[in-house]
Amino acid sequence: MTVGAKLHILVSAGATREYIDPVRFISNPSTGKMGFEIARAALAAGHQVTLVTGPTHLKPPVGAAVISIVSALEMRDAILEAFPACDVLVMSAAVSDYRPSKRAHHKIHKSNPSLTLELQLNPDIIREVQRKAKGQVLIGFAAETEEHMASARQKLENKGLDMIIANDVGGKGVGFAAEHANAAALFRDGAEKPLGVVTKARLGRFIIEQAEMLVERKRAGARRAWRP
Ligand code: C5P
Repeated sequence: MTVGAKLHILVSAGATREYIDPVRFISNPSTGKMGFEIARAALAAGHQVTLVTGPTHLKPPVGAAVISIVSALEMRDAILEAFPACDVLVMSAAVSDYRPSKRAHHKIHKSNPSLTLELQLNPDIIREVQRKAKGQVLIGFAAETEEHMASARQKLENKGLDMIIANDVGGKGVGFAAEHANAAALFRDGAEKPLGVVTKARLGRFIIEQAEMLVERKRAGARRAWRP
């Protein structure tokens, strides 16, 4: 099933970098591949795509409006600005949970035998966006190494999402920087769809198909609610 109208799909991709000093940062191994495949699938289905991406060596899909960011705070600003005009947000970015409380202006020299870094929690972008949502469909990811399904279900509920992709990042050949993902989709109504090991391109197409259906369902629900 495809949605009649062209949708505006906002996708976040890749890792953020949280700088400690001008030459060092905290990050994770995400390459952005998953988000880029989602963007590619959305474009192939005829949708408009805005892609907010962390630093990556990958070439963005032709046709996407690309916004490059570095830190979680920059990603938050970019997503909050683009969100009101979109129909669907897919947060596939591996946002750094913490950032250094202070960023040194100059390179830190190894003058001390030990160094303590104080970290501060980053804002949860998708949760913040959910509070401002006006009927948009929200899709998140849960990258886990254990208790995938239970943990993903908890995140779906805490963050107020319509769908979450539980992603096993602990297995061999799947997860960060891999061609494949070992995934399952969980929905707000309690439904679950195990997908097994799939290419990220296939998973991208699945996510866009589901997004189209979720938009249809949400709009139909809103129309029913307005009927006198
Ligand atoms: O809580 P956790 O980081 O596991 O949640 C993952 C989901 O939340 C992903 O969709 C991720 O993009 C999003 N996220 C976010 N802001 C953060 C951390 C994660 O939007 N600060």
